[in-house]
Amino acid sequence: MSRIIKILVVYYSRSGKTRNIASIIAKELEAETEEIVDHKNRKGLLGFISSGNEAYLQRVIPIEKLKKDPAGYDLIIIGTPVWAGYLSSPVHSFLREYKEKIAKFAFFITCMGSDPGRILLNVEHIMSKKPVVVMNINHRAFKKQYQLKMIDEFVSSIKQNIKD
Ligand SMILES: Cc1cc2nc3c(=O)[nH]c(=O)nc-3n(C[C@H](O)[C@H](O)[C@H](O)COP(=O)(O)O)c2cc1C
Repeated sequence: MSRIIKILVVYYSRSGKTRNIASIIAKELEAETEEIVDHKNRKGLLGFISSGNEAYLQRVIPIEKLKKDPAGYDLIIIGTPVWAGYLSSPVHSFLREYKEKIAKFAFFITCMGSDPGRILLNVEHIMSKKPVVVMNINHRAFKKQYQLKMIDEFVSSIKQNIKD
């Protein structure tokens, strides 16, 4: 009898795009979700500037302890917005704090149009392993409503990876 695969979608979202994608992925994979919570006011111009600055300087910032333990899942799907060409600081901090508890992970990015190459290299460096599946949804994809197709492909690749 096949075992039930446990999947957790962990994400940070400042303005809702990454949260929206995370919830569609979680629904399609019958996964649980956990939003990374920090203690910063990121609203307005000042919030924008300090967020970009933190990301650019790759700061590790305080985040709330997760309610769910990533070690208890077969796969963690991690979602982040791009800030100043880098990982958002809450997701960067999550990776640094929880990497030992993550055996296998998939990764998705939402952004305006940045090349995700540097972020993915950074993620591999922090985690000391590659994500099994990757997705990057940019502004153009959102505008052309490609995101649902991209999510479908991402989810299919994850299902295939779990089966293998
Ligand atoms: C502080 C800040 C910096 C950003 N820098 C970039 C960037 O360098 N490249 C890019 O493509 N998008 C950038 N964006 C846009 C976000 O990555 C994009 O809108 C993302 O989808 C927002 O996700 P969210 O709604 O989940 O917060 C930035 C947004 C913020 C708030």
